[in-house]
Amino acid sequence: MTDVGTAYDEIAELYVEFVKDDLAANPFDRAMLDLFAESLRDNESGPVADVGCGPGRITDYLASLGLDAFGIDLSARMITLARRAYPGLRFDEGSMERLDLADGALAGLVAWYSIIHLPPDRIPDVSAEFARVLRPGGHALLAFQAIETTDAVEAFDHRVIRAYRWPPQRLAALLRADGFTEVCRMVRKPRPGERFEQAYLLVTKDR
Ligand SMILES: C[S@@+](CC[C@H](N)C(=O)[O-])C[C@H]1O[C@@H](n2cnc3c(N)ncnc32)[C@H](O)[C@@H]1O
Repeated sequence: MTDVGTAYDEIAELYVEFVKDDLAANPFDRAMLDLFAESLRDNESGPVADVGCGPGRITDYLASLGLDAFGIDLSARMITLARRAYPGLRFDEGSMERLDLADGALAGLVAWYSIIHLPPDRIPDVSAEFARVLRPGGHALLAFQAIETTDAVEAFDHRVIRAYRWPPQRLAALLRADGFTEVCRMVRKPRPGERFEQAYLLVTKDR
């Protein structure tokens, strides 16, 4: 995964520019993040990790919704930019494959287009790691490029570095094996500038 961190280090400033107006212009993203925040507010309070936070825009949005959100990313440069843009929030360098968090430490976890770069055979361990750090009743929200025409994960030429798009039902099944129950999923058609369908999976860790 060093390659992924290095690749994002190299394009960090460009990435910030690329996504800077994205959330404001994307009601689907905001709707799912709002739903996640409301699910947490109704059921659990406690820390929420934005895993693969990049420049911190999603962490900031979660904090604006009243969540105790902090960010974690593999890319040191992304973490520097996130700290600079949002000095009131906490951002740590780290990998989602080995989170520096105690068992059950989190009320919530968001992985926003960040599992996409992991080779598919490493996702079961990531799912187990998410299950380890989330407390029972906690919620996780994943966003990713989807493929619905097949049950196979497919590699694609992401602009930064190789990535994979997942059949939503396959990722949901994998999470289920680690004690996550699906709350809802949304799959939407590509918007202008996107090539693929996009999926959002909201799951809760079984009590
Ligand atoms: C497409 S960007 C999304 C960034 C952010 N979530 C957003 O939506 O603006 C993917 C991010 O995931 C991070 N990432 C990829 N693999 C990771 C891993 N194994 N652990 C932590 N972060 C990772 C990358 O460094 C990058 O910042």
